[in-house]
Amino acid sequence: MTPIERLQTSLGSLGLKAVEARLENLLEQAAKKEPGYAEFLDELLSCEVDARRSRYLRARLQLAHLPFLKTFEQFDFGFQPSIDEKQIRELRTLRFVHEASNVILLGPPGVGKTHLSVALAEAAIQSGFGAYFMTAHDLVTDLGRAYREGRLDRRMRVYLAPKVLIIDEMGYLPLDDLGATIFFQLVSARYERGSIILTSNKSYGDWGSIFGDPIIATAILDRLLHHSTTINIRGESYRLKDRRKAGLFPRAEEETRPAPFPSPPTFQNGPRRQGSAAPRKTGAPLTAPVRSGDGS
Ligand SMILES: Nc1ncnc2c1ncn2[C@@H]1O[C@H](COP(=O)(O)OP(=O)(O)OP(=O)(O)O)[C@@H](O)[C@H]1O
Ligand SMILES: [Mg+2]
Repeated sequence: MTPIERLQTSLGSLGLKAVEARLENLLEQAAKKEPGYAEFLDELLSCEVDARRSRYLRARLQLAHLPFLKTFEQFDFGFQPSIDEKQIRELRTLRFVHEASNVILLGPPGVGKTHLSVALAEAAIQSGFGAYFMTAHDLVTDLGRAYREGRLDRRMRVYLAPKVLIIDEMGYLPLDDLGATIFFQLVSARYERGSIILTSNKSYGDWGSIFGDPIIATAILDRLLHHSTTINIRGESYRLKDRRKAGLFPRAEEETRPAPFPSPPTFQNGPRRQGSAAPRKTGAPLTAPVRSGDGS
């Protein structure tokens, strides 16, 4: 066995696959550059560390279940002047993840809510945090099924474990009673423990109609907004940009687009109501604030 063959066998048994794959190349370069012993060893190990880090990030990205991969660099802020770039720069520091605070992106279709939430999730993953993406509808359907099958607590852990949970498209479909209750339980359980990045086409004032009840909507918003940043996007759909340029965007369609999003007058970072601060335990029975019409 030659020394190179022995080296390859050792690298293989130690699981240093990246160095093993690049061994000849690394040795060739070393023969040319003649680095010091420490420098050569450092290069060798960095090659393995980098490869492992990218493998780990790829796995994390896959686990995150993102619908697509988009970054901040791919976002044209010039197209969406209502977005405060300073706010985005602050979010990119990921302080909100460390503080378990939430990010809520509001706005009409196509303005980049999902793009920005994916970009934030990607940045969090690059920094070593776990993230998980789900649409509100799929999340509630999944947890509803788990509840009916008596395994809600176990399933809930999937949504409580990652430091960043992205809930997309809140409000496109209304939730039934069970959905609203489950959503309340999820938000309560994550409160001050892990961040939620939520996107919605509905302004806060309309959340009563998502949950079918203003009381439960208030209780959910109270927890969501206590530590939060709201990005209120009032702009045109990026999806329609090229169609508009080509003159294919009918004027009538433009006029029927949803009204702009007013800032929430009472909820945003406002004082908390008494008695609403205690986060619930995940294992606790499934309860929610009393819905209006329940006789109390
Ligand atoms: N300002 C932008 N710069 C670059 N690409 C953008 C911008 N805004 C949106 N896009 C792109 O346009 C498409 C639609 O954006 P996105 O899915 O984020 O919209 P949305 O606000 O989530 O809409 P919806 O409410 O319909 O889900 C995506 O491919 C996204 O990458
Ligand atoms: Mg979207």
